[in-house]
Amino acid sequence: MKILVTGGAGFIGSNFILYWVKNYPQDQIINFDKLTYAGNLENLKDIEKNPSYSFVKGDICNVSEVDIAMRGVDWVVHFAAESHVDRSIMEPAAFVMTNVVGTQVLLDASLKNNIKRFHHVSTDEVFGQLLLDSDQKFNESTPYNPRSPYSASKAGSDHLVRSYHYTFGLPITITNCSNNFGPYQFPEKIIPLAITNLIEGKRIPIYGDGLHVRDWLYVEDHCSAIDLVLSKGKVGETYCVGGMSEDINNLEVAKKIVRILGKSEDMIEFVKDRPGHDRRYAVEWSKIKKELGWEPLHSFDQWLEETISWYKKNENWWRKVKSGEYKKYYEQQYK
Ligand code: NAD
Ligand code: DAU
Repeated sequence: MKILVTGGAGFIGSNFILYWVKNYPQDQIINFDKLTYAGNLENLKDIEKNPSYSFVKGDICNVSEVDIAMRGVDWVVHFAAESHVDRSIMEPAAFVMTNVVGTQVLLDASLKNNIKRFHHVSTDEVFGQLLLDSDQKFNESTPYNPRSPYSASKAGSDHLVRSYHYTFGLPITITNCSNNFGPYQFPEKIIPLAITNLIEGKRIPIYGDGLHVRDWLYVEDHCSAIDLVLSKGKVGETYCVGGMSEDINNLEVAKKIVRILGKSEDMIEFVKDRPGHDRRYAVEWSKIKKELGWEPLHSFDQWLEETISWYKKNENWWRKVKSGEYKKYYEQQYK
């Protein structure tokens, strides 16, 4: 089996490649990535010499680069995207280009190269927001209502993927998952930002009143969900993937991190809210549990401890990331 992974140098893509190489050493993995600010080949240094892994630097918006990379490939697992909501508010154009146009370029090349499965990694943000005091959850039939340029561009990509299935018969599957966390996550996202800021003696910036709710999914659990969808999922189907059974708000998450790192709650600082900030996400993951037998391996608290200890042990990794171009973004976002 030859698998083309797009965006394999990013957070989830690199975790997925490490997971796949460990569990399916007989398969060939091609990592196709543009290496934007979010792409980091250091995540994959343990397997860079492994003969079943190769890297191709390329842009999913470039028709010929994509076509060449896809020759002889059986499956495409598509992670490549601009992924950070705050950046989509600063500069939406790159999100439309990569997430919408890039996905369409991949879909065309998949038809041309007779790809046997195109798996599209999407987000629960396409469904919009839920109210704080409701017990509603997103599921596979929730209508789309994206509210940021990021989620609008991901919604566009989901629609394109489904349209290539209905119109051209491309064998697709889609997962819409919730907020991932774990090793190698770029420290612009709240959990690694909070952990690394505290280790550096900086505060955790919490937007607005801090009562916003996210559904937390450990990245390795996400990888095992994609694995099951690839092997047992039904072509044409969508599966929602979440990690929680109960709500936890951002302030509670920040307090847990403060406690685990033995710091004071004075290190939590309320800052200006994100425009259009979605109030609550909660994902109903009973379809993937019932049909494919998937569930998260551990609780949020256990995975959070694990994640914090990874960032403590891997200071070299995130200090390098935080010292580059990211500094300028941080100053602009939190000025
Ligand atoms: P990330 O930002 O960490 O990584 C994105 C990767 O895509 C990077 O390696 C980057 O270099 C690459 N890339 C960007 N533009 C490209 C282009 N034009 N051509 C080729 N490569 C390009 O993202 P992530 O957090 O790992 O997310 C991966 C996927 O999962 C995305 O599609 C995202 O929408 C989705 N998702 C993420 C989360 C989450 O919590 N992180 C949750 C739900 C869904
Ligand atoms: O729900 C899935 C989505 O989760 C993915 O599709 C996105 O790619 C991913 O970035 C993530 O989006 P969020 O906007 O939810 O993640 P982020 O880590 O940016 O923010 C999580 C919550 O924390 C959100 O309510 C905003 C808040 N926040 C975030 C930052 C960066 C803060 O309070 N302070 C911050 O500094």
